Amino acid sequence: MDNLTPILSPEDIEGIVTRLADRISADYRGRSLVVIGILKGAFIFLSDLVRHLRIPVEIDFMGASSYADGSCSSGRVMLTKPPGIDIRGKDVLVVEDIIDTGQTLVSLGDCLKALGPRSVRTCAFIDKRERRETSVSIDYAGYPVESGFLVGYGLDYAEKYRQLPGIFEVKLTPNEDKP
Ligand code: IMP
Ligand code: MG
Repeated sequence: MDNLTPILSPEDIEGIVTRLADRISADYRGRSLVVIGILKGAFIFLSDLVRHLRIPVEIDFMGASSYADGSCSSGRVMLTKPPGIDIRGKDVLVVEDIIDTGQTLVSLGDCLKALGPRSVRTCAFIDKRERRETSVSIDYAGYPVESGFLVGYGLDYAEKYRQLPGIFEVKLTPNEDKP
């Protein structure tokens, strides 16, 4: 059995999402935004975030994988599902559940920039800093943590726990591998 330690309650999450949405709404006032979530982890965060935004949005998702074939690959990450919306000339916000090494965000950012958007900014619910390998800039970061493997609020461990309304750290029993 995995051992789950609470990190953020649903109320904590609501506060963080509201603050992020307020900043984004202020920064893009008078404009509209294409919000693109990275599958699958960002689906819950994105759905909360967009309901707090006070600007017009278009919503889409893109898929990333570190191994499968994809239409655009950059670094170690491949694009498995490109955005379906034409983003040429538009302001784009990429939404991620968690940034760890930063490889996913850097690679997908490169793929998106090739599609000719007006601007690309990034928003991540969790900014996990210890293993960062890139100089990725997170324009809107929700909650900083140093380390640990987190689940809930869209984040999974082997596809489990995405549905939990809070964020937890997984502590594995000693005979299991680290995630
Ligand atoms: P990066 O490319 O190393 O920044 O990895 C980002 C991706 O790794 C995230 O979108 C998650 O899918 C996954 N990931 C990294 N850390 C965690 C974690 O603590 N819990 C769950 N997934 C994680
Ligand atoms: Mg992810």
